[in-house]
Amino acid sequence: MAAGNLAGKAAIVTGGAQGIGGATARRLAAAGAKVLIVDVDKEAATANVQTIAQAGGQATYLIGDVAKEENTKAMVERAVNAFGRLDIVVQNAYGGGRNRAGSAVEVDPEAWREGLDLLVGALFLGAKYAVPAMVQSGPPPGYDPGPWQGAGLRHGTPPPREVGRIVNVSSVHGLVQAPRSLVYEVGKCAVIGLTRQMAIDFGPQGITVNAVAPGHIVTEGMERMWQQTGNEEGFHLFELHYPVRRTGVPDDIAHAITFLCSPEAAFITGVVLPVDGGMSIQLQENVIMDVKDYILQHPQLRTHFDRPGRNTARS
Ligand SMILES: NC(=O)c1ccc[n+]([C@@H]2O[C@H](COP(=O)([O-])OP(=O)(O)OC[C@H]3O[C@@H](n4cnc5c(N)ncnc54)[C@H](O)[C@@H]3O)[C@@H](O)[C@H]2O)c1
Repeated sequence: MAAGNLAGKAAIVTGGAQGIGGATARRLAAAGAKVLIVDVDKEAATANVQTIAQAGGQATYLIGDVAKEENTKAMVERAVNAFGRLDIVVQNAYGGGRNRAGSAVEVDPEAWREGLDLLVGALFLGAKYAVPAMVQSGPPPGYDPGPWQGAGLRHGTPPPREVGRIVNVSSVHGLVQAPRSLVYEVGKCAVIGLTRQMAIDFGPQGITVNAVAPGHIVTEGMERMWQQTGNEEGFHLFELHYPVRRTGVPDDIAHAITFLCSPEAAFITGVVLPVDGGMSIQLQENVIMDVKDYILQHPQLRTHFDRPGRNTARS
């Protein structure tokens, strides 16, 4: 397994116990990276480490809330102690949260602070401690930049050495806004700004920083939610407004993140890659007409928006 294109590299995946982060930890390990999963869920983190080991990969875990500075600092120290270096950080952890839904009038200031501490603050702290460790680690063992192909064609200045990769997980909610979701939407927009800023700041040190913007991804948690409150007709309604006519699975995002962490993605930085089956590029008015027809044909449909107490524009 260690023969993949990330062989010899060391990675951190926050929220890597399950869901998108869980799949990402498994994909990075399958590509040869050693992976530190940082999560608050010990049971799920242990299970994912075992899954990775059974597949021939190398992973360990650290339990901690990444919104807390001491934990973010500790995760970087742990990765360096465990693997001897740090090359990749995937900043993915998010745990939802009570009282975080609503408009600016409805959201409690404490919920605003807590929500943004995790959605944005944790990513700032992650970079704050990870970047010096990446620079200290230098390029991966055996790294050979080869001849600089620009010589002769341009002025011949060699590029910065390949030092690190940061991938931040935003959302389609960072690209288009949902009503009465102030904290999440602002947080995911801020992840995009933070990614661009970090790409500019850390590019000269050989570190790329990119974001992914997933669409609706049926993780283990989403699956449970659909089973509790949705039905097949409701789920198909979601699929219908994706041009590829399906919603996503964790591996869809894990593959995109693993590519952004690969040597092949060395010239990509500061981008926000939507991984959403084309959902966010559509003209809304046409979609709405298709959806209207479908709802009229399936009036019994239910989705997770039909949960009691769910904060939407309709409630
Ligand atoms: N699932 C989707 O449809 C979807 C869509 C767009 C974006 N996203 C984003 O993808 C990321 C992962 O979402 P997911 O759906 O896989 O979630 P998930 O709930 O399946 O997994 C999140 C993981 O993060 C962990 N976690 C929660 N709070 C934490 C904290 N404070 N510190 C450390 N770990 C913590 C959880 O224990 C869990 O293992 C999030 O940033 C989310 O906003 C998800």
